[in-house]
Amino acid sequence: MRLLVTGGCGFIGSAYVRLALAEGHEVRVLDKLTYAGRPENIEGTGAELVEGAIEDPAVAGEAMAGCEAVVNFAAESHVDRSIADPEAFARTHVIGTSVLLDAVRERGVARYLQVSTDEVYGSIESGSFDESSPIQPSSPYSATKAAGDLLVSAHVHTYATEAVICRGSNNYGPRQYPEKLIPLMVLNALHGDSLPVYGDGRQVRNWLYMEDFARAIHTVLERGRPGEAYNAGGPDEMENLDVVRRILELTGRDESLIEHVTDRPGHDRRYSLGSEKIRSELGWEARVRFAEGLEQTVSWYRDNESWWEPIRSGDYREYYERQYGRALG
Ligand code: NAD
Ligand code: TYD
Repeated sequence: MRLLVTGGCGFIGSAYVRLALAEGHEVRVLDKLTYAGRPENIEGTGAELVEGAIEDPAVAGEAMAGCEAVVNFAAESHVDRSIADPEAFARTHVIGTSVLLDAVRERGVARYLQVSTDEVYGSIESGSFDESSPIQPSSPYSATKAAGDLLVSAHVHTYATEAVICRGSNNYGPRQYPEKLIPLMVLNALHGDSLPVYGDGRQVRNWLYMEDFARAIHTVLERGRPGEAYNAGGPDEMENLDVVRRILELTGRDESLIEHVTDRPGHDRRYSLGSEKIRSELGWEARVRFAEGLEQTVSWYRDNESWWEPIRSGDYREYYERQYGRALG
């Protein structure tokens, strides 16, 4: 297939680009190159890069010319940024998804996959969400992602668009922008900076290695039933404090670096995503357990200073000061 991958310069999108190329597909990437869009993530892979925004109808339409499928990763992906400044989230997730779906319909593109998140279901105290759980997002990030998912369903019902949705739980792995919990804590620990844990740190996340999510997305693209959503949850759940303690062990630091800071407003307590449907219908299962994936991730950040140094010494410093009320050491 010839694929258009939007947001392919980001963390998960670039893992998906590598997987799709390895499977023999041709890949064109459409990416706005926000702070999180790193062209170096796909450098040398053979993917074609078009710089532009999914919410621009002319750009989106032209980029999908000759493509059999569109896989939409393009997003503002960080909850804390959505709390500080929600507008870009609505533009990309709502207008952008709507523009892509219109272009898919007008150009007769055979297949569309929307990359989504367990956060559209909100927080769950016990048990796990499945695909029939109510959509109850709680942050501007998850609310606008949910709106994108609902637009996909509307296009399936109204125009018989061959679209599918794949919802992942929290991803981690190499090339994740260091605003997210795991890379932020890894880089701070490597530098001996304090580790800012929100509130009591007992929130639970369901961790999924990004290559497992990329494989789930490709499986759903190829074999998912049109109009259906498929959840892809990670194999392990963990409290944030336990994640941070493991990072301290892997970086040879002690717990004195942990600092409890003001909690995130409206912080979802627990995410847990059941993967029964994708397992029984499509045979997908996560392969990488958290202990192994975290070790690989810490090693990757240790060995790839040339990837993160320009980020950590650039705009990220200002973001960090704004978000955490202090400078990086
Ligand atoms: P990321 O922030 O690393 O990358 C997002 C990419 O989208 C960047 O390359 C950015 O430049 C591009 N982009 C942003 N706005 C755009 C626009 N308007 N037009 C074109 N390109 C644009 O994000 P990620 O963590 O790789 O997430 C990718 C997708 O996976 C998102 O849809 C996200 O909601 C979803 N997801 C992420 C996680 C996670 O834990 N990170 C979990 C489940 C689902
Ligand atoms: P994050 O990586 O932002 O993902 P999400 O909010 O989408 O789950 O955060 C993961 C968890 O880590 C979440 O409970 C918030 C917490 N967290 C901290 O405690 N400190 C931090 O500096 C960050 C970025 C996150």
